[in-house]
Parts: sequence; structure tokens; C-alpha cells
Amino acid sequence: MMNLGDVYGRTFKTLRVSLLSTCNLGCVYCTVGDATINVDKKAQTPAAHFLKSIAQLHEQLNLETVRFTGGEPLLYHDLITVVEGVREIGIPHIKITTNAYLLDRMAPLLKEAGLQSVNVSLDAVDEEAFFKMSKRRHVDRVLKGIDTALKCGLEVKLNSVVLKGLNHEQILPLLDYAFDRNIPIRFLEVMAMGHLHNQADQYLFTQEDILLTIASKYDFMRLPRKVSATANYWQTDEGKVFGIVANESEPFCHDCNRLRLDAQGNIYGCLSSNFPVSINNIETEEELEQKLKQAMKQKQKVKFTGSELSMLHIGG
Ligand code: GTP
Ligand code: 5AD
Repeated sequence: MMNLGDVYGRTFKTLRVSLLSTCNLGCVYCTVGDATINVDKKAQTPAAHFLKSIAQLHEQLNLETVRFTGGEPLLYHDLITVVEGVREIGIPHIKITTNAYLLDRMAPLLKEAGLQSVNVSLDAVDEEAFFKMSKRRHVDRVLKGIDTALKCGLEVKLNSVVLKGLNHEQILPLLDYAFDRNIPIRFLEVMAMGHLHNQADQYLFTQEDILLTIASKYDFMRLPRKVSATANYWQTDEGKVFGIVANESEPFCHDCNRLRLDAQGNIYGCLSSNFPVSINNIETEEELEQKLKQAMKQKQKVKFTGSELSMLHIGG
């Protein structure tokens, strides 16, 4: 078993696997212009390729969680095979982060394949606000997907990126939607990624802004932070839980336990890695260790400060 612990004691326990760089929504923080979708199934990385890399990493790192991301992971042609494969590899927690546009159809199959948990990106419950954020109609499709996932027994959480001037008025409607269904919701401060690299500030609605908005309707108390968590959590007097992923206001790099694998077989130690390392065709444990140590060196020490790389590729 490899010990990659750095001077901060950080180790890799969660592998985020970006299955493809295509999405069927056109969210303003991710893409420029309208949503276009062009999924070339033949060009997609084969499931066997992902599974080989995941198995190698698990053997050396004893991973606790694999989270599938994208682009939009539900567009990956062989998703069920990779989920089943990861279950067979023996990784305890299998999760996905999705926009849920295709979840209604996929949820039962994913549950059957071994998926346990779904984080749904939902930035508005109102149709017009949903369109403004995602350039797509039919928020009802997403909501139906969430209902189906819950019915199937999948654990569901919501992620809502808050952009000042675009959807900050959706905070309370989103919160009430989540509270009514007992779904934990996390509001996300926008991160300076991709085309927003140099202009995220203008959209930043901070943790404090979010808390003030929620305080206009609810009383709440902060809960203790869990080790390696991305989100801070609060509980209302009625026992409802909400969270905030406060990359700007309260950075959480110091106990990060994540690494990322993309569809080309590259490992990113950090969202901001400019030089990911390829683990394609690696045969020996020594080689893998050397590559992972290289990836570890790219981890931010204090705070993620931005990257020109799009979340669409690296998967959040
Ligand atoms: P849970 O385990 O359910 O809490 O999921 P998660 O928060 O780890 O993953 P999710 O895909 O739901 O991501 C939520 C937000 O956290 C997204 O905005 C991600 O980009 C952000 N995030 C995830 N990992 C990191 C990280 O290592 N660094 C930073 N700065 N943000 C991250
Ligand atoms: N800042 C914050 N969150 C983002 N996401 C995508 N791009 C950004 C950004 N620039 C969110 C998605 C998804 C999660 C993986 O990251 O909405 O929920």
C-alpha cells in the first residue's frame, strides 16, 4: 500500500472520475454561448480503460469513494458497465455528480448497478431562472429525475451554484424545495474556472451573503465541520440541514483527500493542476507511485485561486 501523505498529511481517498467533457446543459459558469450537444459515442474512452486505472489506484491507495463526473456523466455511453465494474473492484462508496436531465430513465439502472448517491446540480427551480442559468428548458425533467432517484433509494443532495445578479433570488425557493423533500442542499460560491477565470468576482455571492439571505426566513446553527468535507453545514431550528461550499470565503484545501482522473488517463492532484500526469500504460507500482507523487506536488497549499481549465473537462 502506498503512502502519499504530504507535509500536510493529506492522502487520496476520493477519486473523481471525469468520464467525458460533453454536457447537455449550457450553464453560464461552464460554457460560453448556447447549449450545444454533440456526443460522439465512438470517441468516448472505453469503460475497460477507466476500470483498469481505477483498479490500479485502488490497489495502492485503498480508495473509499469513486465519484463520477464529467461533463455530464449520464451522457457516457457505458456508464452502467463502469459503475458495476467499480462495485466489483470493491470500492465502498460509488457516487455521481450530475445535472439530472437524464436521471429519470437512468436512476433505476444505476441503483441496480451499485450506485449509492447522487449530487444533483440544480441552480434554480423556477423555469425562467433555470433557463437563464443553463440555457435549457424543462426544469421539470430534472425535478422528475430527483423524485425517481429518491424513490429508487438513492441518496440525493443538491448543489446550487449562486451567481450574483443571475440566480441569487432562487436561494429561498431552492431551499424550500429541498426542505420540503428532506434533501440536503449546498449552495456553492462560484469558482474562477474556465472562461470565468478572470471575472468570477463579479458574480461572487459569498457564504455571508447566502447566510444573510437564508436568515431572512430561518433561524439556524452551524454544525461542526467534517474532515475533508467540501461543504460547511448548518441546521435550522426545524432540523433541516443546508450547506455552503465556500471555496472563496472558507477554503478547504488543507485537508483535501481528492484526486481526479480524466478520460485521457490523466491524474490531477488539484483542480488547478496545469500539468496533469498520465497513468496510461503504467505497469509497476513504483512507476505509479512516482506519477502520483508528481500529482501531489501540484496540490494547492492554502486556497484554490483559479484555473483556465474548464470544469467541463476536469469535473469539479
Ligand atoms: P460530497 O462528498 O457529497 O460532499 O460531494 P463533494 O462536495 O465532494 O462533490 P461535488 O461533486 O458535489 O462538488 C461540490 C462542489 O465542491 C463543486 O463546486 C466542486 O467543484 C467543489 N469541489 C470538489 N472538490 C474540490 C476540491 O478539491 N477543491 C475545491 N476548491 N473545490 C472542490
Ligand atoms: N464554480 C462553482 N461550482 C461549479 N460547478 C461547475 N462549475 C463551477 C464553478 N465555476 C459545480 C457544478 C457541479 C459541481 C461539480 O461543480 O454545478 O454541481
